[in-house]
Amino acid sequence: MPPSTHSTAMWHDSTLGLWAHGYAWLPHHMRAASDGIVQTRLLGRPAIALRGPEAVDFFYDEKHVVRTAALPGADLDTLFGQGAVHTLDSDVYRVREALFLRLLKDEAGVAALGAPVGWRWREALADRHEEIVLFDEAARVLARGVCDWAGLVLSEDAISELARDCTAMVDGFATPGPRHFRARRARRRQEDAMASLLAEVRAAPEPEANDSALEAVAWHRDANSEFLELHTAAVELLNIIRPTVAVAWFATFAAHALHRWPHHRELLRADTEGHYARSFANEVRRFYPFAPFLVGLAAHDQTWRGHDITKDSLVLLDLYGQNHDGTLWAHPYRFDPHRFSALAGFAPNAVLADLVPHGGGDPARDQRYPGEDVTVATLAALATELARTEYSVPDQDLSIPLSRMPTLPRSGFRLRPN
Ligand code: HEM
Repeated sequence: MPPSTHSTAMWHDSTLGLWAHGYAWLPHHMRAASDGIVQTRLLGRPAIALRGPEAVDFFYDEKHVVRTAALPGADLDTLFGQGAVHTLDSDVYRVREALFLRLLKDEAGVAALGAPVGWRWREALADRHEEIVLFDEAARVLARGVCDWAGLVLSEDAISELARDCTAMVDGFATPGPRHFRARRARRRQEDAMASLLAEVRAAPEPEANDSALEAVAWHRDANSEFLELHTAAVELLNIIRPTVAVAWFATFAAHALHRWPHHRELLRADTEGHYARSFANEVRRFYPFAPFLVGLAAHDQTWRGHDITKDSLVLLDLYGQNHDGTLWAHPYRFDPHRFSALAGFAPNAVLADLVPHGGGDPARDQRYPGEDVTVATLAALATELARTEYSVPDQDLSIPLSRMPTLPRSGFRLRPN
């Protein structure tokens, strides 16, 4: 092992800085670090922050970084849920992951979720001329779309409550105080609701084939060949529904982009094959702030580019910073969907490998994380419908505060359909 040039002992705790500066906290420290690696302390633990394609490979290699117990309890009580796939490693993880890959990496299945979200949006806006908050409307449309797709039969009121609860769970993950407690209450309510639906499914005999996500989760056997405990099954069902509803954040950013750079409306309207819509969706995911960084735990004492990493210290993968790194992206602060378009002369897979909006991996080896295809399909469908919808945008505060995590245009993006 080469001699280390840095020690973690002297770093001061940055937790307050993170809460105060949000998305700007890590990129600011990265700029100040001569080698692009930040060593600090978070929540009282030594932490090292990395970015770049090699850092992504390092982070996703279980020999270096593990995720079991890496997530703070607060994130599990709000965002992912106790016992979720996000907290597992090794064999237990692989069996659980296979469930998500089967449901979320099937091309026809993903298309069957994307397209209805488009027509549900048209339906939601038909004959309406009053002002609406796009974020709230998009969350309801996505909740309806994913429930239909997953086989959950819910009333309109239940869909509205589910949409509100899912956005509350995401909104409260990174903050102490009232937003956090609202998120915990929302999670408890929806875990109970999902557990009841799953119990109903299990009350019937096990079918030969599972046709829906609801059935697939209800009858999934874990690494020990047992069905998932009911609460864990509810958590995992929510781990399909909640992040799909969270695409409402990106849909709101898509509206923001179409408002600031309206020429994309024409390009989306003219795009009959959906190619430009996918590039647009990827650029929204790159350009706008959503997930700031991922957190893992160092598997053992090791060094990364001359920096000591002690066992169990936090390893952060700087997502927002990597998506705006000028060494990876030409003009990173320019909104330009063409950078993801093969027509512009880029090799899309090579470009996608650097894109880490909510996780990384190599698309050429099909090791992207499972939620990516659903995110792109639903976002592309909603962005295309937005471009086709005629609406006016009243005066409002569209600034996006980087100190708030997760952030949004302050107004949630109000619009009035024509
Ligand atoms: C709205 C945009 C989304 C954001 C910001 C987001 C964020 C995240 C983050 C931060 C993680 C942890 C990644 C890691 O530790 O490697 C994750 C994992 C995961 N997401 Fe998403 N996600 C989004 C959309 C989706 C969608 C639409 C789905 C599925 C319908 C989904 C399903 C999953 C699953 C199954 C995992 C666990 C992956 C694993 O541990 O192997 N996500 N997501």
